[in-house]
Parts: sequence; structure tokens; C-alpha cells
Amino acid sequence: MIYKKDTKWMLWIVMLNLILGCKKDPFFDKHTPIANNPTPYVLALPASFPPMNIPLTNPLTVEGIALGKRLFYDPLLSSNNKQACASCHQQNTSFIDSNKRFSLGATGALGARNSMPLFNLGYASAWFWDGRAKTLEEQVFHPITSQNEMNQDIGLLVNELKANGNYVSLYNAAFGQGEITFDKTAKAIAQFMRTIIAYPAKSFDTSKINNTLNASERRGLLVFLDEKKGDCFHCHELGNFMTNYKFTNNGLNANAINDPGLYAVTRNPEDLGKFKTPSLINLKYTAPYMHDGRFKTLREVIDFYDNGFKFHPQTNYYLDANLKKHFNISTNKPDPREWTEQDKEDIINFLEALTDKSINTNPAFSK
Ligand code: HEC
Ligand code: HEC
Repeated sequence: MIYKKDTKWMLWIVMLNLILGCKKDPFFDKHTPIANNPTPYVLALPASFPPMNIPLTNPLTVEGIALGKRLFYDPLLSSNNKQACASCHQQNTSFIDSNKRFSLGATGALGARNSMPLFNLGYASAWFWDGRAKTLEEQVFHPITSQNEMNQDIGLLVNELKANGNYVSLYNAAFGQGEITFDKTAKAIAQFMRTIIAYPAKSFDTSKINNTLNASERRGLLVFLDEKKGDCFHCHELGNFMTNYKFTNNGLNANAINDPGLYAVTRNPEDLGKFKTPSLINLKYTAPYMHDGRFKTLREVIDFYDNGFKFHPQTNYYLDANLKKHFNISTNKPDPREWTEQDKEDIINFLEALTDKSINTNPAFSK
């Protein structure tokens, strides 16, 4: 009998914990005073954009975005309080680490990949060159804890944030009364990043493209689409984002010894050397190019697609079919394409027209 009574009590305790536990979650807490309810934020998207996939557990709010921006610029996030997200993602260059092939971490360690620009992030389905982050919230965890980057201990970070008088009220405003947690930190930064939208109006409305591109850029668009010339659009899909957001192998290496790319995440041999197909928006500001920053100029990139990409016949999966068709197995070299010097200049002009420089100065994204 006593035993039964005990279990009854245990049940009560479990239920009480559940109720209290639920109360801790800001989004499902109906009892949060009205004054603490964050203000829903409606993201203004260009007319041609599809709706953004925003997780129900992290809706955009005015206060959440403001907190996220503040955290993005705060070196408190790193172990020695010297490095912010913005240290490697600088606004004036579409949030890359300007002119650097690899970035230095808070403690001076050198990374192994080129920093990525930050815009239209809410439209991807995996993040980083190798896609190891499956949500934008999860993504935030990586640079903060990585030894090559901010080298921070999550528990210590949360304590530092709690000890900071300003943050307590900012977290309460964004997520309702409650403790500062890492989960809320990641959510706020992800909210801020989702608001960074790049949209080069000049060339996206394909029906009006003839009116907005100059003669050379217009010819460059045709080279981009011509399967005998550039043939770029299968991967860098023409449209709002200038990428299909898929992971593909564009033949940078004949094997994947230096960096296995997506394979490191999936362990599927077919994914060796596959990387996130990057957007071609704002290339003007984001040199050097590729996951290892090996190319300094767009001219080098075009020459690479002309005659530099590699294929290893024994390992079929090393090159995407859209490039393999331009590779000549018998000469072990890319087939010469039918593009002229003028075509190459035109395609570079077209790529440079895919520009939205407003994100580089928009005060909504500035410190
Ligand atoms: C030391 C430099 C450095 C710091 C600090 C840093 N990043 Fe990065 N970031 C990078 C590099 C390098 C990559 C590419 C890494 C990879 O693919 O492995 C990257 C990739 C990303 C991506 C992926 C973009 C995409 O299109 O997939 C996001 C998002 C991002 N960083 C956000 C952040 C946030 C938020 C912070 C702060 C919490 C931060 N970064 C701090 C260097 C840095
Ligand atoms: C098979 C798919 C595919 C095709 C076709 C393709 N690309 Fe790429 N492109 C990629 C991938 C994947 C990357 C990233 C590779 C890496 O860094 O490992 C990339 C990278 C780039 C970059 C560097 C961007 C940056 O931010 O670093 C530029 C520029 C580029 N491609 C332009 C082009 C042009 C121009 C064409 C046509 C001549 C083209 N691509 C054809 C898949 C493709």
C-alpha cells in the first residue's frame, strides 16, 4: 500500500514538473504577462520570393531580432571576449571575412575553409560548405564552440550573459520572463540572420531582363544559359537565389583527400567532394572564391570551368554529371567550350550585375 501511495506522489511530482517545465518554454507559455509578449515581425520579402520556411518554435519577433543582432556583434560570445560573429562576417562585404582565404579564430588558430556570405539563409536546407548544420539554430552552436573559431564553453557563455545586466532584460523582452539559455541565444541569432535578404532587382525579373541589363551583361546571361558555353544554370539556378541549394561536386580536385565535403556528414562515398552550391549574388564583394578560397578573381573561376576542373575516371562519383559531360575521358581534360574571349568577359559582367549592395550598408543589419 505504502508503495502505491509513493508512486501516486511521484506521479504528482512528475506532473508538477511537467507543468513548471512547460512554463519555462516562452512560446507555449500562456501565462506570460502581455507586457512581455514579443512583437511579431513580418519579414518584407521581394515579390518574387517564395515564403521563407521559419520554424514554428522560433517565430520572428522585433525583440528577438534586435537581441540576435546585438549578440552577432558581441565579442562576449568568444572565449577571450575578442571575437564576434561579425569579426569573420563583415557587413561591408556581404558578411564574409573580407579578402581572407581562411579566418583566424579567437585564439589565433587558422580555419580550413573560406568564410561564407550571410544572406537568404532561411531558404537553404543545410548550412556550411559541407551541410553539417541541419537548422540555422543548430548552425550557431558550431562557430561558438569550435576551437578554430570562438572556442567558447556554452555553460560559461550562459553565465557571462546572465551576469550582464543588459542582456537579462533583452532576453526577457524577446522570449518572455525566464532564464537565459543557450537555446534562446541560438534562436535570437538565427532570427537576425533570417532577416538578411539579398535581391539584385536589376536582373532577377527575367521577363524584364532586357530592360535592366546592359548589352554585355545581357550577352553574359545567354552565355550563362548556353549549354555549349557556360552551362552554369543547372547548379546556379537562374532566379531569386542563383543556386539550387544542392550539394554538388564541381571538380575542384581529382580526389577528396584535402576536404571530403558532404561525405564527412553522410559517410556516403557518392558525397565525396560535394559542397554547397553557393549563390552567385554579390560575388563582387566576396572574393576569394570556393570553399578553400583558391581563386582570387572571377576570371580565374571562369578559366577553371573552361579548362581546369578535374575528373578521376576510376571514381565516377567525383564529378557532377553537368560538368562530366564537358570532360573528355581520352584526353583526361575538359573539352574546349565554344566560348570566345568576349563571351568570358560578358559572363563576368553578368555575374557582377547580380548585386544587391544595400545589404552591405543597411542599418538594420549594422552594429
Ligand atoms: C573565425 C571566423 C568565424 C567566426 C567567428 C564565425 N564564423 Fe561563420 N563561418 C566562418 C567560416 C570559415 C564558415 C564556413 C565554414 C564551413 O563551411 O566549415 C562560416 C559559415 C557560416 C554560416 C553558413 C552559411 C551558409 O550559407 O551555409 C553561417 C550561417 C555562419 N557562419 C554564421 C555565423 C555566426 C552566427 C557566428 C557567430 C555565432 C559565426 N558565423 C562566427 C567563419 C566564422
Ligand atoms: C555541377 C554544378 C555546377 C556547375 C555546372 C557550375 N557550378 Fe559553380 N559552383 C558549384 C559548386 C558546388 C561550387 C562550390 C564548390 C566548392 O567550393 O567546393 C561552385 C562555386 C562557384 C563559384 C564560387 C562562389 C563562391 O562564393 O565562392 C562561382 C563564382 C561559380 N561557381 C560560378 C559558376 C559559373 C560561372 C558556372 C558556369 C560556367 C558554374 N559555376 C557552373 C557548382 C557548379
